Parts: sequence; structure tokens; C-alpha cells
Amino acid sequence: MVRSNLLGLGFLSFAATTLAACGLINLEETADKYMYMMSSGDHSWFDNLSYELVYKENDKNASILFSVASMGLYITSNRTFYDATQCRIFTDFVVTNPEHPYVINTQLYVVDGIVETIDSVISQAGDYQFNASAYNYWSTQESWDVIPEGKRNSRQTLQAAADAYLDSLNGKSGNSTVPTGAPCSRLEGGVYTGSQNSTADMCNLRRRIPSASLTNRRYFIDETKGTVNVFGGYGGLDRTRLNQTVPDSHTFRIEDGKIRYIHMVGTCITPGCGMNLTVPP
Ligand SMILES: *[C@@H]1O[C@H](CO)[C@@H](O)[C@H](O)[C@H]1NC(C)=O
Ligand SMILES: *[C@@H]1O[C@H](CO)[C@@H](O)[C@H](O)[C@H]1NC(C)=O
Ligand SMILES: *[C@@H]1O[C@H](CO)[C@@H](O)[C@H](O)[C@H]1NC(C)=O
Ligand SMILES: *[C@@H]1O[C@H](CO)[C@@H](O)[C@H](O)[C@H]1NC(C)=O
Ligand SMILES: *[C@@H]1O[C@H](CO)[C@@H](O)[C@H](O)[C@H]1NC(C)=O
Ligand SMILES: *[C@@H]1O[C@H](CO)[C@@H](O)[C@H](O)[C@H]1NC(C)=O
Ligand SMILES: *[C@@H]1O[C@H](CO)[C@@H](O)[C@H](O)[C@H]1NC(C)=O
Ligand SMILES: *[C@@H]1O[C@H](CO)[C@@H](O)[C@H](O)[C@H]1NC(C)=O
Repeated sequence: MVRSNLLGLGFLSFAATTLAACGLINLEETADKYMYMMSSGDHSWFDNLSYELVYKENDKNASILFSVASMGLYITSNRTFYDATQCRIFTDFVVTNPEHPYVINTQLYVVDGIVETIDSVISQAGDYQFNASAYNYWSTQESWDVIPEGKRNSRQTLQAAADAYLDSLNGKSGNSTVPTGAPCSRLEGGVYTGSQNSTADMCNLRRRIPSASLTNRRYFIDETKGTVNVFGGYGGLDRTRLNQTVPDSHTFRIEDGKIRYIHMVGTCITPGCGMNLTVPP
């Protein structure tokens, strides 16, 4: 219900008094401006964009003037996270508008209060298992709340868990190297493994390809929410182009060192990545 922001515009009245460029409040304010740009199609309010902004959609340079940033998307839901160490924002948001549904994941890099990079993985019809309504439905059933301070994992532990999963995509390392807990569910496009059993560990991969790899990983870590997001190139996802990588985003919720949720937003070269899956992978 983003359009109501047109009336609210709470962030515009926010008086930034701190010089701490990476304070949580500053990141939250910047995230609001990004979401407002995406929902209005108007970047003129976004006074914290670098003149040399790098704006990428699915690993290609694009312009905020002629891209999804200019469309004015009706955003159905979002999950937004803050990495105060790297000064980055990550948001996982859904547009279920039947005219053109999307699931979009964005990493924003902020330097001294200025957004230098906006890097998005954008999925739509034809992408990996795409179904925005189903993605929205399952995602909003889950809890990715703040973890109490004494129970948080270190950034190293969180990243290691995410890497263990991503390194297992080719199947060579087996399931036991991946620290999954129970319940654990994977949401891939619109397919949810937890729909089969919401209390079991449903995160192990049943379908693997030997050449699978996740390269050029760009990490985002929010230890307050036990969340790691990794952008990368997924080699082998598109079965018709096994020697090419496609833009991919994996997001992990980790509690007590154990993976609980995995969201995957994967893109395809050939519609459906050359698979017509009718069952969860
Ligand atoms: C994309 O933009 C970056 C930064 O402006 C630039 O360094 C790079 O060469 C561009 N890539 C292409 C393929 O144009
Ligand atoms: C993003 O989600 C938060 C929390 O659910 C909500 O308060 C905010 O309005 C949402 N933003 C947009 C642009 O939908
Ligand atoms: C954004 O830019 C404005 C104007 O340059 C500045 O006043 C404000 O502090 C900046 N906000 C953040 C979050 O850095
Ligand atoms: C997408 O998911 C929704 C809700 O789960 C379902 O009703 C719909 O049939 C699905 N659409 C397609 C094209 O599979
Ligand atoms: C991993 O777990 C899945 C689901 O339980 C199972 O189908 C698969 O065979 C296991 N793979 C390995 C390498 O053990
Ligand atoms: C779900 O998983 C739990 C734990 O593995 C198991 O005890 C239960 O029987 C499963 N339920 C169904 C409906 O398969
Ligand atoms: C990748 O495979 C395709 C055929 O599937 C081939 O046409 C292409 O040349 C290969 N590219 C590389 C870089 O090996
Ligand atoms: C997937 O479905 C489409 C349309 O039904 C069909 O043309 C295509 O051959 C199918 N691909 C595979 C790999 O089964």
C-alpha cells in the first residue's frame, strides 16, 4: 500500500542531525527513499543519490530514468534489512499487480550518506519458478524478526552458513555440511518446500546439477535479523545454457547457526530456465 506514502512522506520532515553516515536511522531513511522511488517512479525526492550512481538491473547497467525505477510499482510487501558494518541496505519486495508482477531484490551501497550503487535482481514471468502471488503469500507467513542481542550469531557464522548452502548446489559436498534446522523452508520463485511439511527440515536439495556454481558473490549481512543475502551468478540454473551464469539472489534467515528460511530469486535466459517444474525442487 505504497501509494499512501504520497500523503505520509514522513521521511521528508526527518531532520538529519547526525554526521554518522551509517547510523541505522540514516539507513532506514535512505531505504524509505528508495522504496518511495520504486513505488512512485519519481527519483526527484531521492536527494541522496550519487551523481555517479551505478544502477544495475540483472547485472547490466541501466538508467533510473528508463527502468523499473521509473515505472511506479504498486508494492505489495517488502522485507528490508540493514548492514551497518558495510553500510548497505537490502530489500526483498513483491509486486503482485496482475498487469506485471515482479519479485525484486536490491542491494544499495551507501557511502557517507550517499547511495553509490543500486544493484537489483529483477524476476518476472518466465524467470525461475516465478509466481509473485505465491512468493508474497509464503514470504509473509514467515517471521524474520529481530533476534535478541544475546542470541545473535557473528557475521562470520552467518556468512559461513550461507556459503555452505551455496557451495552445496552442485551436490558434491552432500547435505550434512549445510547447517539447516527444523523447521527449514525454501521459497524459490513461487515454490515453497515448507508447503509439504511446515515443521520439518525441508531445505536439503533434491535436484542438483554437477556443474552448478554461484560465482561473483556479493554479501550483505544483517546480524540483528540473522540475515545474509548473496547476489551472484548462478551457473547451471538455466538448463539450456549450462555454461552461462544468470543473475541470482539468495537470502537466508539463520537462528542459532541454523538456516531456517531460504529465499531464492533466480532469472532465466530461456523461459522457465528450460525446465517445466511442477513439483518443488
Ligand atoms: C557499467 O557502469 C560502470 C560504472 O559506471 C562502468 O565502469 C562499466 O564499464 C559499465 N559497464 C558496461 C558494460 O557498460
Ligand atoms: C515495507 O514494509 C514495512 C514493514 O512491513 C512497511 O511499514 C512499509 O510501509 C513497506 N514499504 C513499502 C514501500 O511498501
Ligand atoms: C540525504 O541528503 C540530504 C541533503 O543532501 C541530507 O540533508 C541528509 O542528511 C542525507 N540523508 C542521509 C540519510 O544521509
Ligand atoms: C500462482 O500462485 C497462486 C497462489 O498460490 C495460484 O493461485 C496461481 O494459480 C499460481 N499461478 C500460476 C501461473 O501458477
Ligand atoms: C539430501 O537430502 C535430500 C532430501 O532429503 C535427499 O533427497 C538427497 O538425496 C540428499 N542428498 C545427499 C547428497 O545426501
Ligand atoms: C513433518 O515432519 C515431522 C518432523 O520430521 C514429522 O514428524 C511429521 O510426521 C511430518 N508431517 C507430515 C505431514 O509429513
Ligand atoms: C556455451 O554453450 C553454447 C551451446 O550450449 C555454445 O554455443 C557457446 O559457445 C558456449 N559458450 C562458451 C563460453 O563456452
Ligand atoms: C516447457 O513447456 C513449454 C510450453 O508448454 C514447452 O514448449 C517446452 O518444450 C517445455 N520444456 C521442457 C524442457 O519440457
